[in-house]
Amino acid sequence: MNPIPQHIAIIMDGNGRWAVSRGLSRIEGHSKGIETVEEITMACREAGIKYLTLYAFSDENWERPADEVHGLMKLLVEFLRLKKQKMIDNQIRFTAIGERKRLPKTVQGALQDIENATASLDGMTLIVALSYGSKNEICRAVERLIKKGSKVITPEAVSANLDTADFPDPDLFIRTSGEIRISNFLLWQLAYSELYFTDVMWPEFTAKDLQEAIENYRKRERRFGKTSEQIC
Ligand code: FPP
Repeated sequence: MNPIPQHIAIIMDGNGRWAVSRGLSRIEGHSKGIETVEEITMACREAGIKYLTLYAFSDENWERPADEVHGLMKLLVEFLRLKKQKMIDNQIRFTAIGERKRLPKTVQGALQDIENATASLDGMTLIVALSYGSKNEICRAVERLIKKGSKVITPEAVSANLDTADFPDPDLFIRTSGEIRISNFLLWQLAYSELYFTDVMWPEFTAKDLQEAIENYRKRERRFGKTSEQIC
């Protein structure tokens, strides 16, 4: 059995379909999805997971109807303000990856505030991907290397210039809602992650579903390109 994953990355998919199938608005789906964010963050903290990365808003999500984008940003600011103390009480460091300069000033301010307030906490790190696209992140990393005058581009140098430079790569990737895609999320960092897909919609994903994903992960053989004999 593998030890529990050190880092879990999740695509929280299905809020919209969950809401529409119940005659609710898509924003009501995201609002229920935020409750799941809280439950799963606490479940990870209790399970001893050290890093949790959540895909909250992609580069491509800017193309959604303006009222949905606006509603999501509002929910996000509310979450950051209302849950700051809970993060502190539970020793959770909060941070974000992605192109934060594209985010509304209110979101940027709330992010800065919660990052400052939780910077020294080391129980768990919660990383939220916002205005994030993996191809864009890789291009920005290479651009940084070019600006620094690097002549040789190595995998280690690229990793060290990604938004995720301070975190280990995810051990376990989870996507909810039955979609079987990576959708421009952590393409570089997921190179050797174990992938887990579930039909459960994000608003209905529970701590028990998370435990099932972790148990499934623990039974996998992670060979990292080697043979079974070499890793035993
Ligand atoms: C995907 O469902 C979900 C999103 C695009 C947004 C997810 C964001 C949250 C749950 C809020 C995050 C907040 C924090 C604080 C991390 P979808 O709308 O694509 O669903 P669909 O595929 O059913 O339409």
